Amino acid sequence: MIQGKCRIWNLCISALAFLSLYNIIITLKLLYAPECLRHSPPLPKPTVKIIRRPCEKDEKAIYTKQVMNLNLQLGRWDMRLQYKLFDHIVTGEKFAILSELFRTCLATQSSIEKIASIIEVSNHWNGPISLAIFAASEDELNTLLLYVMYLRKCDARIRDKVSFHLAIPKDKRPKKVAIDIEKLDEMDCGNPMGTLQSLIKKLQKQNGMWRMKMPYPQNLMRNLARKNCQSKFVFLTDVDIIPNKGMAESLDVFLINAKCKGLCAYVIPTYEIDERVRFPPNKTELIRLANRGLARPFHHKVFIYNQYATNFSRWQNATNERDEVHINHPVTNFEFLYEPFYVAPDTVPLHDERFVGYGYTRNSQVYEMYVAGYEFLVLSPIFTCHWGLQIKRTRPPWREHQNNLNRKNFDGFKTGNLC
Ligand SMILES: *[C@@H]1O[C@H](CO)[C@@H](O)[C@H](O)[C@H]1NC(C)=O
Ligand SMILES: *[C@@H]1O[C@H](CO)[C@@H](O)[C@H](O)[C@H]1NC(C)=O
Ligand SMILES: *[C@@H]1O[C@H](CO)[C@@H](O)[C@H](O)[C@H]1NC(C)=O
Repeated sequence: MIQGKCRIWNLCISALAFLSLYNIIITLKLLYAPECLRHSPPLPKPTVKIIRRPCEKDEKAIYTKQVMNLNLQLGRWDMRLQYKLFDHIVTGEKFAILSELFRTCLATQSSIEKIASIIEVSNHWNGPISLAIFAASEDELNTLLLYVMYLRKCDARIRDKVSFHLAIPKDKRPKKVAIDIEKLDEMDCGNPMGTLQSLIKKLQKQNGMWRMKMPYPQNLMRNLARKNCQSKFVFLTDVDIIPNKGMAESLDVFLINAKCKGLCAYVIPTYEIDERVRFPPNKTELIRLANRGLARPFHHKVFIYNQYATNFSRWQNATNERDEVHINHPVTNFEFLYEPFYVAPDTVPLHDERFVGYGYTRNSQVYEMYVAGYEFLVLSPIFTCHWGLQIKRTRPPWREHQNNLNRKNFDGFKTGNLC
């Protein structure tokens, strides 16, 4: 009898030990095996109506394909009831699992004109990407969604990593989604830029001066992208700011060990580079380009205060550098118009959505961080680049106009008088 009990007891203990061990092994396997990406369960596919080019005879040539989570009658309003927002209209197939594997999510936003930059961004950044897109009219929305489907069809990196969120204005609100997916077959995967340009040309013919009339709500878009990230840290950029290759991984190693007392934001220096060069694979190469006049701090000629406080001479001066990401120096001369791109936990202040259009949109947020007591720490040897050396006169007049309006807003913001 006692022996029997003992045997059952031993059996229980063995079973328990076996289960615990099994559990540990499975957990370790999940944590470390990259294969788990391949085995992740397929996400539920929401629905949207895709309209085939209406056939003259058969009006019912409409079918539903499960690709997009978008119902224009739903969505949520922004705080001022000016825009409608839709989260995760298309979710990257590995977005959720990548959000668990990586500490930093890249949050970015784009209008249709610049969206092709996401191709290079998703080539360089292996973590999750949260991309907020904006469409000002029904035509623009349908063109944009068609292009998103094209990007996902042609580029596995985008299909895997990028989750798309949408904002549309209240006025001239798009009423229906009608994507002509037969066009998708005609669109050349080998020429994403050309494909986009011809789509935009058609839009402009239909809508004339559409971009002038509808300023792009930068800060609203930034918040939309940020708040749909699932990782602890967010790296907020503009879509044409390209991270160096492998940044997500090297940042991860840094952030595991980063000891921050108080409030920290990690600044990643941004350069603009000549269109003719190859994207610099490392800091050494970037500095070599800078010494030859083919790279320079972002906005150096257009708006020097933009990055000035980052202190590029100090960053470039650091020699005998380690490969691992580390803090090169703190920002010591904070300036009022400073607007670096930084990595921080997403508890940083929101972007003030009253700033619409170009200019004075990011620095208002960075200034709030500064006032709240954030320390800005410049990382090395990682960096981002923007294609093209910018000079002031290449800016279109509408952009200059928006910039001037926001300068006035910013003065109001400083003194607390912005309505
Ligand atoms: C940096 O990139 C250049 C150009 O590709 C290469 O020759 C060099 O070995 C790289 N340096 C380091 C430290 O990786
Ligand atoms: C950059 O750092 C150097 C010291 O390394 C300092 O002398 C200089 O004033 C700093 N410049 C700015 C703009 O912070
Ligand atoms: C560059 O480095 C040298 C030697 O480490 C140092 O003396 C000098 O102050 C540094 N300059 C800047 C601008 O940081």
